[in-house]
Amino acid sequence: MKQFDYLVLGSGIAGLSFALKVAPHGRVAILTKKNRAESNTNYAQGGIASVTSKEDSFELHVRDTLEAGAGLCDEQVVRRIVEEGPSCVQELIELGMKFSERQIPDSSGAQELDLGREGGHSKRRILHAKDVTGREIERALLHAVARQPNISVFENHVAIDLITSQKLGYVGPNRCLGVYVLDKISGRVGTFAAPVTLLATGGCGKVYLYTTNPDIATGDGVAMAYRAGASIANMEFVQFHPTCLYHPKAKSFLISEAVRGEGGVLKSVDGREFMDSSHPLKSLAPRDIVARAIDSEMKQSGAEYVLLDISHKSARFIIERFPNIYQSCLGFGIDITKEPIPVVPAAHYQCGGVVTGMDGQTQIEGLYAVGEVACTGLHGANRLASNSLLEALVCAHRAAAGILVESPAPPVFRIPPWQSGDAHNPDEMVVVAHNWDEIRRLMWDYVGIVRTNKRLQRAQKRIANLQEEIQEYYWDFIVTSDLLELRNIATVAELIVRSALERHESRGLNYNLDFPQSDPELTGCNTVLHK
Ligand code: FAD
Ligand code: SIN
Repeated sequence: MKQFDYLVLGSGIAGLSFALKVAPHGRVAILTKKNRAESNTNYAQGGIASVTSKEDSFELHVRDTLEAGAGLCDEQVVRRIVEEGPSCVQELIELGMKFSERQIPDSSGAQELDLGREGGHSKRRILHAKDVTGREIERALLHAVARQPNISVFENHVAIDLITSQKLGYVGPNRCLGVYVLDKISGRVGTFAAPVTLLATGGCGKVYLYTTNPDIATGDGVAMAYRAGASIANMEFVQFHPTCLYHPKAKSFLISEAVRGEGGVLKSVDGREFMDSSHPLKSLAPRDIVARAIDSEMKQSGAEYVLLDISHKSARFIIERFPNIYQSCLGFGIDITKEPIPVVPAAHYQCGGVVTGMDGQTQIEGLYAVGEVACTGLHGANRLASNSLLEALVCAHRAAAGILVESPAPPVFRIPPWQSGDAHNPDEMVVVAHNWDEIRRLMWDYVGIVRTNKRLQRAQKRIANLQEEIQEYYWDFIVTSDLLELRNIATVAELIVRSALERHESRGLNYNLDFPQSDPELTGCNTVLHK
């Protein structure tokens, strides 16, 4: 058994920021599924929303966030996170993060932060590093982590399940004691124990067939927390990003909303600017509206994609502002300075998650959750673009500050080693692979951008069958990361479907043809599920 003061599950912006804050006060283990940079954070393009310009104000950022959230944001949380954003961003800059700058107009060549614009924002307020903001964040944070002797990073370590006092049969309040972890290289399962465990495991895009997320995003944190008895809220609000590159060889490549922020226009395959009739902000309308308009356009025309056109801007500007998108598209034979980009919506962000306060505290003592895995009340029924990196940064700071004040004592429970029973090697990996595909496809077909009760019920039945099969596998065979992730995506799929069935209205990202309107009585009502 490995004993630490702090266990951090995940090496994206949430986990790394938290680890750096607590490291001066104790020994920290960061456990991460793949290599240390592999995370949703690493692929973030648009940037971090934060008020830094004189033309902007906290009030406007709060208003835009509340508007996107469609009556389900917690206004107090929104205010705090928006107001604490600039100082946390400043700390990130002091750690070495390099945001893009531009020359101040009419001055003697002095520089200021370049601010991008994205859907639903009334002002330019997105700090970015060209179109590779996440890569630059990971670089800066990992560089700082490497200089911190108190932090050990365990790559290729998959957290299997949280160890809690209740699961071990102890009476009294439920307390998290640590986690069982699969070392993917040795195939062994070990025990990591600590008085504080932080879930920073990110989102669950891989629950859907088409997603902008990398392979790590299998909702492990939500599934583990749910199994451990924590409350999970608002899982019906899955954000579909309107513009993922459509190309047979492109896997999950996002075309940033910043492209539309800089003048990119959505068009049908025959060149019609179909957003004109959908929203006054046209191509820069909030994401739920754009994704639904694209879905409807594709269904009506039978086309497999729509077009995003920025070729009217100068080639110099496009290549300078979006070097990654330009190069990547060019690699697929699309020159975005000359032709439109074929795009489709894809699952992008989990607005719900483990219920926490702004300081990351869950209902289980010693268990904290920060970042995409958590549901703080910031996003409500629809996240405003570029608010997630902000939330992760601010909440990691707040969680660390709260924990350091409390400084929890080490638990005094005896933790048994992982029991693998009489498990033997899986000989039917084809079943695992088949179930993976089945869940992702049925979620895409039945629980996508536009839902109906009938389709949700159909999905629920199939997921229940699959879960039975997965449980058998789980107990019979030695665990592998594929099997662990399959179990988790099945749990998260179940939670999304149950939440969607519980919400008898359309609101924000949850659009159900059987309840096409919002119910004013449900304003402020979260969907909360427990095991
Ligand atoms: P992640 O960065 O996803 O990190 C999760 C970590 O947990 C990973 O290290 C993973 O390996 C690890 N992990 C997961 N499960 C386990 C397990 N069982 N055991 C061990 N480790 C585990 N948001 C913005 O605000 N602005 C943007 O511009 C933006 N662009 C985006 C572009 C793309 C393509 C994507 C996919 C998302 C984007 N988002 C953006 C969303 C944002 O990137 C994420 O919400 C945010 O980075 C989440 O950070 P996180 O630290 O919570 O999780
Ligand atoms: C993007 O660059 O379009 C993604 C921004 C976000 O998800 O917040």
